[in-house]
Amino acid sequence: MLNQKSFHRGLLLLALAGVAAAGTNLSAQTNAPTYLRDVKPLFLGKCSRCHNNDSAFLPNWSDYTSAYQNRLEIKRRVWDAWKGNYYKQSMPAGNCPECQTITEADRALIRDWVVAGARLGQPANATPASNKAERIQVGKGLFTTMCATCHQLAGQGVTGKYPPLANSDFLNADKQQAIRVLLHGKQGDITVNGAKYNNNMPSFPLSDEDIANALTYTYNSFGNSGKEVTPAEVKALRAEKYTPDATATKTAPSQFE
Ligand code: HEC
Ligand code: HEC
Repeated sequence: MLNQKSFHRGLLLLALAGVAAAGTNLSAQTNAPTYLRDVKPLFLGKCSRCHNNDSAFLPNWSDYTSAYQNRLEIKRRVWDAWKGNYYKQSMPAGNCPECQTITEADRALIRDWVVAGARLGQPANATPASNKAERIQVGKGLFTTMCATCHQLAGQGVTGKYPPLANSDFLNADKQQAIRVLLHGKQGDITVNGAKYNNNMPSFPLSDEDIANALTYTYNSFGNSGKEVTPAEVKALRAEKYTPDATATKTAPSQFE
């Protein structure tokens, strides 16, 4: 006869079986998102304007240790709060470009990364691209998750805020000047295709390989000149002594910076 005690034991066993099954499912998810391949580019594009190495009071998500330590809160802010299931404000915060470009898929990716154990993994380009076609391919991934946040998927930019990369006279004029924008960020006056901008592009912690790939993809898309940028070219400019343009006027930081 099924008494109450054994009934409860049965429930407990069922619950344990459920946990074990969920655990197996997760470890079987060899395709679960990883930090270096999937999540870091997303953090760089959609979080790093506020969460970066220079921020005195906000955690820096382009650092794995800090992202791993805060992973549960990251999931709650990006997923649960967005769904109305957490009382704190959802991230990205405020009315920023990141908020307009973060997608349901981006949010789900961050959630899945946390649920599956927030693994470090390998970068998408663990084996460096060996030719221009591969560089364009890998660069496209980085562009889509990162650069498109501000410059938009088709590189058209946003009037008055983010200059276009499509048919950009600035970009096509000089490879070195484009590499420097990626290495050091860019602030202050800039004229692209006859239109003036005065905004701030941060410098992102990208490797020589990342910058070469992202720029090669950009140069080979959106009606641009088809140039290739190599990691060696980026490395050479990284080594030079950099003096920011003295005429650049630093824009007022946003209320969050
Ligand atoms: C426009 C600026 C901005 C952007 C972009 C932004 N955040 Fe935040 N974030 C903030 C501010 C300001 C706070 C502190 C206020 C608060 O806790 O709500 C914060 C707090 C957080 C916290 C809580 C930290 C803690 O110590 O409790 C997490 C987690 C977080 N953000 C994750 C993210 C993630 C992940 C992204 C990108 C998907 C992101 N944020 C994008 C401004 C931003
Ligand atoms: C957080 C927003 C943001 C992100 C993300 C971003 N940029 Fe920019 N970018 C800007 C802004 C703003 C400027 C103009 C800065 C100024 O006004 O001085 C700019 C300028 C540029 C320029 C020079 C102007 C032009 O239109 O040709 C290039 C090239 C460029 N970005 C490439 C990239 C690439 C490649 C990525 C991704 C790896 C990227 N940017 C990511 C905001 C961003």
